[in-house]
Amino acid sequence: MRLYYFKNAEDLARAISGRLGLDARALEERDFPDGEVLVRVEPAKEVVLLARLYPDINKNIVKLFLTLDALSDYGVGRVILAVPYMPYARQDRRFREGEPISVKTILSHLKEYPVTHLITVDLHKPYIGDYVAGMKVFNIYPAEKYAEILRRWNVDVVLSPDAGSLHRAEALAKILGAQYDHFEKFRDRDTGEIFMKPRGSINLQGKSIAIVDDILATGGTLIDACKNARLLGASAVYAVVTHCQLLGNAREKIKGCVNALYCSNTIPCEYSSIDISEDIAKAVSSAL
Ligand code: R5P
Repeated sequence: MRLYYFKNAEDLARAISGRLGLDARALEERDFPDGEVLVRVEPAKEVVLLARLYPDINKNIVKLFLTLDALSDYGVGRVILAVPYMPYARQDRRFREGEPISVKTILSHLKEYPVTHLITVDLHKPYIGDYVAGMKVFNIYPAEKYAEILRRWNVDVVLSPDAGSLHRAEALAKILGAQYDHFEKFRDRDTGEIFMKPRGSINLQGKSIAIVDDILATGGTLIDACKNARLLGASAVYAVVTHCQLLGNAREKIKGCVNALYCSNTIPCEYSSIDISEDIAKAVSSAL
């Protein structure tokens, strides 16, 4: 079994191959001036393919399918695919008539290749795994690791910014023995202003809270939740987000609000202190 990895995933590849004793090789990758890409692999019977698709999502998706196609042409029998951050996952349903379900579009093409397992981290919605029926999907949510970090802050309440992320808050809160809920948006009838508060009756006054989400893109969602938690009296606000993109002026926004932000290294950045290579290695190991 050989581990092929995208050059941008060398950190994870080293850690995973080190744990599992796999022969790890970087894909040969070329980018042409006009935007086209090329990859080169050596034939192998069984492959673990570690494809970090962020940043340069569209280019990396093309590289992924070129790699799978080349491996198939050379007779690969089995591919265990690890995609730490699954892009296009926010378009997991048709929001407006005429739109595609983009993540389904991408995942459905995997079925054309001998991909037996898909290993990924914190899918935007767990049901996305159903789009690749017939393939074993590992959707890793490193709740224990996240909880371990939050334990030092004596978190009283774990909150998700919206209902779609509630399962994350619930998973962490249950480990921590904390309360959990999700924020809801309300309009102040007098001023017309929008504000957020927990859906239920949890009082945030003087509480240490954690906000959990899957993606931090522009930071708008996290900061709205953070500001509203402070308005409601939270004494400290910590945040744990799996995939940290830090777009635009997200860095400045974060510094102005949260006490601390912790992210996984599915996307490396200055906040990605939570290493998920062990979790991916375990999933690969159980697929071998
Ligand atoms: C939305 O459904 C996601 O779970 C995230 O809350 C969202 O993508 C975060 O985006 P931003 O940081 O731009 O607010």
